[in-house]
Amino acid sequence: SDLWYLTGFEEPEAAVLLLPGHEEHPFVLFLRERDLKMEIWDGPRVGVDRAREMVGADKAFSIDKLDEELPKLLAGRSSLHYSLGVDPAVDEVVVRSYRKALRTARGRARAPTSIVEPGEALHEMRLVKSLEEIDALRRACAVSAEGHLRGMRVTRPGMTEFELQAEIEHVFRQNGARSPGYPSIVGTGSNACVLHYIENRDTMQDGDLVLVDAGAEVDWYTGDITRTWPVSGEFNGYQRTIYDLVLRAQMEAIALIRPGLEWHEIHECTVQVITEGLVDLGLLEGPVEKAIEDKTFKKYFMHGTGHWLGIDVHDVGAYARDGEKSRPLEPGMCFTIEPGIYFHPEAEDMPKDFLGIGVRLEDDVLVTEDGCEVLTSGVPKEPEEIMEIVGKDA
Ligand code: GLY
Ligand code: MN
Ligand code: MN
Repeated sequence: SDLWYLTGFEEPEAAVLLLPGHEEHPFVLFLRERDLKMEIWDGPRVGVDRAREMVGADKAFSIDKLDEELPKLLAGRSSLHYSLGVDPAVDEVVVRSYRKALRTARGRARAPTSIVEPGEALHEMRLVKSLEEIDALRRACAVSAEGHLRGMRVTRPGMTEFELQAEIEHVFRQNGARSPGYPSIVGTGSNACVLHYIENRDTMQDGDLVLVDAGAEVDWYTGDITRTWPVSGEFNGYQRTIYDLVLRAQMEAIALIRPGLEWHEIHECTVQVITEGLVDLGLLEGPVEKAIEDKTFKKYFMHGTGHWLGIDVHDVGAYARDGEKSRPLEPGMCFTIEPGIYFHPEAEDMPKDFLGIGVRLEDDVLVTEDGCEVLTSGVPKEPEEIMEIVGKDA
């Protein structure tokens, strides 16, 4: 993801070397050579000769030359920004080149005296999205929402989870997604209580809910949406009670978002609303402050409220920097808001009527100058609207 972010280059076996201030070639790309025999099997390659024209590199070498060229390119530089420990084979080449550059310099020329982790600076850049990135995220989120809408419309008792998954992912592809951004979760009945359920092979039953967590990847950026709806279009009273509580928690958190709000305040909001609701329902022992302090709410709501979103579904970027409890939001940041309540069917200390219910609602938001834009508003979450739509095209 980092290499693509910096270059837009999509091939495997590539390395990029940026030499800030270099007069002739600030952008050096190492890539695979063209090879017709291999291209017959695996598809076209840009190749060294076309790297300038097709990728915008100032200079290009075969990736096989990395060992030979890197020491020369490191000469004259003061520090090397490189992620050590990600790929031991590349580490070996880089460290060897670095030693060689030091040896060659011997005080006469400059050579890097430090190796710096590039993640911090680079991931700060990736955290605040550019206009082009926002455009891609908007499209990914709109396509994701279309997929969920289709899913709601075709849902009917007797349909399998994987059929529903296929309907949703079909819409993703049809609208330009190269793939889902992550493995789709389609969990009916108590499968909704398994947070990472991806088997998706049960049959949906009348009276159950289905939880769908699926997002389309469009132009490298991904949406991440969760909706929970009744298989037959009607909630029972217990399901509706929990649904309404999750929805209220999510809406209240979304209403808070604006520049300057600190990241942890979002989770504190959903925890507050959900804990109050569970105490009122007699599902958690009060008082509310104590249930929050003792974290007893985690029995029902055991995950965080969101994560950065971008090229990766759990995108890069620090949630707190030095000395902060958590960081203040800034325009251009993009993240999910996804509270949930789950009653695992085998839990021993929960009221029977609720067992097997799992509800999560997840939307993607972009922080704007004065609030936020909900990028995934194309798919409804108000119960009345959902009841109208579910099964319409079944
Ligand atoms: N679908 C992954 C997540 O919601 O975090
Ligand atoms: Mn998510
Ligand atoms: Mn998700």
